[in-house]
Amino acid sequence: MTATTAPVRRQLHPPPVAASPFPYNKGSLLSVQDLTLETVSHLLARASALENMDPLVRDRILLKRRVALLFYESSTRTRTSFELAAKGLGADTTLISNLSSSIEKGETLKDTGLTLRALGAEAVILRHNSSGAAWLLEEATRLPVLNAGDGMHEHPTQALLDLRTILAHVRPGIEAVEQDTLAGVTVTIVGDILHSRVARSNMLLLPRLGARVLLCGPPQFLPELATGAGPGISIERDFDAALRESQVVMMLRIQAERLAGQQIDLEQYKASYQLTGQRLAAHAPSALVMHPGPIIRGLELTAGVADGPQSVILEQVTNGVAIRMAVVERALMETSTKEGRA
Ligand code: CP
Repeated sequence: MTATTAPVRRQLHPPPVAASPFPYNKGSLLSVQDLTLETVSHLLARASALENMDPLVRDRILLKRRVALLFYESSTRTRTSFELAAKGLGADTTLISNLSSSIEKGETLKDTGLTLRALGAEAVILRHNSSGAAWLLEEATRLPVLNAGDGMHEHPTQALLDLRTILAHVRPGIEAVEQDTLAGVTVTIVGDILHSRVARSNMLLLPRLGARVLLCGPPQFLPELATGAGPGISIERDFDAALRESQVVMMLRIQAERLAGQQIDLEQYKASYQLTGQRLAAHAPSALVMHPGPIIRGLELTAGVADGPQSVILEQVTNGVAIRMAVVERALMETSTKEGRA
């Protein structure tokens, strides 16, 4: 059994953005690298406050503010949770999809963004198949842009909701994070690392809190050059050995839409990297099992593991709404541009 798709450019590391002027808008969230640990702590605390707030009070916070959801790729969790989050704060939302808009007629991302701004959008939540699209949209519109996943690059709100999920289990009650909050915690990310924006955002965030990140997968999904991906990050190709060291195991889907013609022997892949109940019981009987979704039952993990007692996959989904409420609120409360900052 194999999986193939059309070619795309393969790149493990995105171009560096450290010297760039981004984000222009203080409310934007383009990368987890935009966030100080103080801001991460604020977002975690604010997510809890908003989640526990009386909905009749909460839905006045962004009453009638306008939020556009611009989705060039399919999504269930991210789109729905961003929409529920914005609506839960009282904002008006509109969804623009590449399949039912003038994008189909060839309108560019820049022109679509400028059009949304002219229509009164005060923030744009963007999912796009090209790495860097959120930066381009922010530069063009100077609106707060929330990156809901750009190609193989980043998915910052996924990393934040993953962090909230991990903390709830390994550091219950802690929301003010520091450099050593996750010291002693090993998070193993398994599978198609190369194409995963979720892996990338987690690799950029978790080591800043002291977590050790192990990357596990075959060379075609985890090139050796990832060895130097950053401090606190290393490769362990032996899945069972990685599991034995893990408090958290984050499984990833094979991203068939980004395989660039690669042929995958799925039976061989499953033999080496599928998370089964037997493997989990033998090597990591108390580890948290995470997955950003969508899960492919019977491929990267078995149905028994997905539905089992160690799985927090649906908790991750639920946490997405609270985190995105905090991020959307920040987007619309922080309206000044970088140029206007002290
Ligand atoms: N985790 C995630 O991004 O899922 P969706 O593609 O369904 O939004």
